[in-house]
Amino acid sequence: MNILECFKDYLKQNLTKCKSYHPYFEEALNYMLLAGGKHFRAQLLLGVVNAVDKSKFNDAMAVAMALEMIHSYSLIHDDLPSMDNADFRRGIPTIHKKYDEVTAILVGDALNSDAFLRIANANLSDEIKVKCVRILAHNAGSAGMVLGQALDCFFEKTTLELDKLEFLHLRKTGALIAASLELGAIIAGLSDEKAKELYKIGLKIGLAFQIQDDLIDATATSEEAGKPVNHDEFKNSFVNLIGVERSKAYKEKIIAQISENLQNYDENLVNLISNLIEKYLKG
Ligand code: IPE
Ligand code: IPE
Ligand code: MG
Ligand code: MG
Ligand code: MG
Repeated sequence: MNILECFKDYLKQNLTKCKSYHPYFEEALNYMLLAGGKHFRAQLLLGVVNAVDKSKFNDAMAVAMALEMIHSYSLIHDDLPSMDNADFRRGIPTIHKKYDEVTAILVGDALNSDAFLRIANANLSDEIKVKCVRILAHNAGSAGMVLGQALDCFFEKTTLELDKLEFLHLRKTGALIAASLELGAIIAGLSDEKAKELYKIGLKIGLAFQIQDDLIDATATSEEAGKPVNHDEFKNSFVNLIGVERSKAYKEKIIAQISENLQNYDENLVNLISNLIEKYLKG
């Protein structure tokens, strides 16, 4: 089984159990995770562990799951009527459409808390687990993804300059993607310094990933995207600010920088990152 298949298998076997007399809360908790998505962040984390120390691969699964739970919570809230107001995601109705808005808010809240419980319960040393909690919390919270989302929502309909747009995207999307590499590095036993170097490369991957996401909104069909397209009309997206062609060129420039930054890295790690870039950031 390849890394993606291993992760999907783990996810299905390790759903959140939430027995109660609520008619559908347990189902709703797992609904968006089971809908898939690319699992780009989990693949980055597990890929680093696999490249550096295969013996830690199985124990890293719980942290990869935590990362996907945080990512899914961010999307469930992002789709709410008060944020992007999107009716479908990953090819299926969003939680507030299938169930109701209260459920979408609470499922997001639960995934956010439960993610850290997954790490606390992981079969890793306490020292590694505290580092994982710190990395994930820092990049998901008010210094990372949430700040990016706050800026994205507040400055809708106000055109930002390119450096402010980058600041926003580096937090909204870059932070969690960079954290994926850093978490993988820490679990695999690399030094904090090496993990931070990978984090910096991850920020660039995250920026390119968001440019690609903005391009998907402008150029893909909703069937291909699995979510509404032409939805960023009032957003500070790269496409709105500099157009499709310049966005593509900018993304390619960042990808070239990533390859350069990776020059002295271990071959397995370079292959992992290059393959994921090829699969999800091209076109
Ligand atoms: C979508 O993330 C939102 C962004 C941060 C760009 P993904 O494109 O990773 O969504 P899934 O997980 O594949 O559905
Ligand atoms: C959302 O960005 C990023 C998050 C942190 C949730 P978008 O709003 O562009 O993501 P999509 O296009 O709805 O997936
Ligand atoms: Mg959004
Ligand atoms: Mg959105
Ligand atoms: Mg988008």
